[in-house]
Formats: sequence, C-alpha cells, structure tokens
Amino acid sequence: MTNLTGKHIVLGITGGIAAYKAAELTRLLRNAGASVRVAMTHAATAFVSPLTFQALSANPVHTELLDTGEESAMGHISLARWADLVLIAPATADFIAKLRAGLGDDLLSTLCLATRAPIAVAPAMNQAMWDNPATQENVRCLRDRGMRILGPEEGGQACGEVGMGRLLEPQQICDELGSFFDNGVLAGLSVLISAGPTREAIDPVRYISNRSSGKMGYALAEAATQAGAKVSLVTGPTALNAPRVHDLSRVESAADMYRSIMDKVSSANIYIGAAAVADYCPAAPEKQKIKKNESEMVLTLKKTQDILSAVSASEKRPFTVGFAAETDQLEDHARQKLAAKSLDIVAANWVGREQGGFENDDNALFVCWNGGHAYLPLAPKKTIAEQLIRLIAERYHAQNPAKNPR
Ligand code: CTP
Repeated sequence: MTNLTGKHIVLGITGGIAAYKAAELTRLLRNAGASVRVAMTHAATAFVSPLTFQALSANPVHTELLDTGEESAMGHISLARWADLVLIAPATADFIAKLRAGLGDDLLSTLCLATRAPIAVAPAMNQAMWDNPATQENVRCLRDRGMRILGPEEGGQACGEVGMGRLLEPQQICDELGSFFDNGVLAGLSVLISAGPTREAIDPVRYISNRSSGKMGYALAEAATQAGAKVSLVTGPTALNAPRVHDLSRVESAADMYRSIMDKVSSANIYIGAAAVADYCPAAPEKQKIKKNESEMVLTLKKTQDILSAVSASEKRPFTVGFAAETDQLEDHARQKLAAKSLDIVAANWVGREQGGFENDDNALFVCWNGGHAYLPLAPKKTIAEQLIRLIAERYHAQNPAKNPR
C-alpha cells in the first residue's frame, strides 16, 4: 500500500519536449497503485503518441473536447469528477497562462476549470521563459489559488541552455503526490488560521500596524497542510510568499479580518489565531490625506472587535487556539487568556527578549490548556509550528474521539 493506492489521477500532458518523461511518470503512478487517465493537448501529441499512454495507463487517452463518441464515454465533466487529483506534467508556460486566465478552449483546460479536485502543476520550459515576469506572476497566482507547484528544477535543457525550467524527475513528482495524500494527524479536518499584522487606516496613505511578519502563521499553515488538513488562511499584509493552502484570503484591517474569519468559521474544525490583530484602530479615519497644518495632533482610537473571543463564542465553535505575546509573567497571562476567552489552547511567547517572537526566524513557546502545559524550546518557526500542530492534533482528538481518523 502507498498513499496513492486506489487514487484516481488525471494526468494532463501539454506540448513540450519533457512530455516523454510523462510516460515514465504514468508507469510510476500505476506502480504506486493509482488509476491513471491521461488527457493530452494537441501539441503534446506531436511529441509523444497517445498510443504510448494508452498502453501505459491501460485506459483510453483523452484529447478531444468535442468528440461526441468520447464525450459520451468520459468527457471533460466526467473526467473532472472522476479525479482525486489533476496533475499537469509537463506544464508549458502557455498552459500555465491559460490556467491562470481560466480559459477553456480544449479538453485539458476545460477539465481543469470543471474539476473540484486539487490540481498539481509541474512546469517545464526554457529557462528564459520560466524567468519571464509573466510566467512568474502566473505561477504565483496559481499557488495563491491553492494549486501545488512541483518544481521545476535547475539543469541542462533540451535547447542547450542551462538554468531553471527542467521538469522534476518522475520519481520525485510521484513522491510529492504521495505526500499530498498523506494521512497526517489532521487528515480530514478543516483548519482556519489567521496570520500577519493588520493595518488600521489613519487616512488614505497612513496606517497603524505592528511588527508581526506573518512567519509563525504561515509556518502553521504549511505544517497543518502537511498534516493532512484542509487549510484556510486569512492573512494581513506580509512580505512572504503565500504558503500552499486550500484557500487564501488577503485582508488589511482588523475589521476585514473579522469579517473574513467569521464568514468561514462555521466550516472549521480548528481555529488558530496567529495574527497580531490590532487592538485599537483610528475612531474616524480621514477620507482625505491629513495635511501637516498643526504642530500637534491627537488621534482618537477605538477598540477593534476581538476575533478570537468571537470565534470562541460562535455557535458552531471550532477547537480554538489563541496566541499571546507577553513582556512579563508569560505563564500567568497565558493561563488568564485561556480562561478569559474560553480557549482550548493558548500558545504564548515572550516579546522583546531573545526567545524569538516578532520578526524573528526562531521562536519558543509556552503552550497551556486546561489540565496541562508544554514548553517548546527555541527553534526555527517551521519546527515550532510542526510541534504545535502535533500538540493541537493531540488535544483536538482527545476532545473529539469520534472524529479521530486513526
Ligand atoms: N486577537 C484577536 N482579535 C483582536 C486582538 C487579538 O483575535 N482584536 C487574538 C490574536 O489573534 C491572538 C490573541 O488574540 O490569538 C492575542 O492576544 P494578545 O494581543 O496577546 O492579547 P489580548 O487578548 O489582545 O490582550 P492584551 O493585549 O491586553 O494582553
């Protein structure tokens, strides 16, 4: 048994020289226990014959959007529904642009539009085409939409150039897909995570914010995804690349974040409030830019809504995890927050000390819940995130034994 055993994979092949590697990929996917159906663009059929893939996948190969015979047997909608995963390998720059634009002018692009299954994209192209800002922007956009981008890698290219753009080796693609279906500690659960700072407008050009980088929240989103969860991330403005998640929402202010979180909370099993939400915002932001006419000015602030408390008090309350950033009496304040906001877990870190926290790559946490606590010593945020996700999963499953997938 592998993670791919019994999985339905639609392998989409587009027209590049790396198409020949898709033959080996088909064989590896089938060896790993997956059922494979191949959909090729017309350009791909110029590189490798559909017959090759028919033999290797043991299924008819799909090339036509409007072939009535084939359409009735298994057209784009049936294929889209059949798939547990759509894998485009190799994906040309052209096809990536098409995916981004949402075009549906052939079987494969239409299938990608119609499917609700996750889509993985393994790009392969000339290195200059890969570096082109248009391609980079398209790939970023696909990633933001939750598609998994596999590779490319660096090396010699068929055109004689050397650089980024080679298709990942078929074995590596196969391994990555295996981790996609990993039955981790949060498999089958929906996890909603807030991250980053918020910006509270003073006028159209100025705002109040804080030093949060978003690194901890993004690392938690990655770790939860890795643990098998369907992750929705609501993030304030950060300078980070978006992590691989099911659903990503970008917001600015505490009020925007409140709306976005409350909109999604009823379908979440677990909420992790890692955002550094502003506690106060300007009471009356100016519509016009404020001129520096006065020698002093007074800014009146009002309290923002406490998102964490609202989540914890919501009707279909998820398992609720809050963060605390403290400059003193860390453990006492963390326990007080646990009780005051009726939380399931509080993860507390020092700020203004050497134990990590805001803007740092490392962090250390004191984690408490009713009846227990743990210390996670100073380590990279990725490691801390993986440890915290394991703790959250343990506490969650202890509270919800019926939903325990193991
Ligand atoms: N939080 C929130 N909404 C707010 C403010 C904070 O959801 N308007 C959440 C953060 O996402 C984090 C936790 O509350 O999970 C952080 O609390 P913290 O700011 O440390 O403390 P507060 O509860 O705001 O109280 P105080 O600042 O007085 O310690």
